[in-house]
Amino acid sequence: MLRVLFVCLGNICRSPTAQGVLEKKIIERGLQQSVAVDSAGTADWHVGKAPDARSSAAASLRGYNLSAQRARQVVTDDFNDFDYVLAMDHSNLSDLQAIKPSQARTQPVLFLRAFAKRYSLTDVPDPYYGGAEGFERVLDLIEDACDGLLDDIEQRIMNS
Ligand code: 4NP
Repeated sequence: MLRVLFVCLGNICRSPTAQGVLEKKIIERGLQQSVAVDSAGTADWHVGKAPDARSSAAASLRGYNLSAQRARQVVTDDFNDFDYVLAMDHSNLSDLQAIKPSQARTQPVLFLRAFAKRYSLTDVPDPYYGGAEGFERVLDLIEDACDGLLDDIEQRIMNS
């Protein structure tokens, strides 16, 4: 089993969206037995809360269901428990690098930089204080990089 953790700031907008998108794409590729997904926030402000209603609504219109998710904060065990620790932006990445135990197995990386196929961007912009177009942009970027991530995962499975 390969384990993927998406990380943003609040764990109510970007990383729950990425989890919901990847979960659907895992089913579409028949990889349910091979890949597990979770998400977390670097901050503790929204722990226990459902995803932001604007993220849930935008995701739902594209066929993704975020309703079972509840926010949690990143813990140091995550760097050993997950095979991919994927930061949504540079700020999330530096927060992760600051708490990562020195002996931990998995280095956090920028999700878009590592896996985007059609976009040459490094950050998924935080949509929290903006309008509806920001949530569509989050979905566009995340859908593309999830395709690239699953290509990478399929390669790892084939080579294992
Ligand atoms: P997220 O978005 O990191 O994509 O979940 C945010 C959610 C909440 C806040 C900031 C960003 N906040 O300031 O509460």
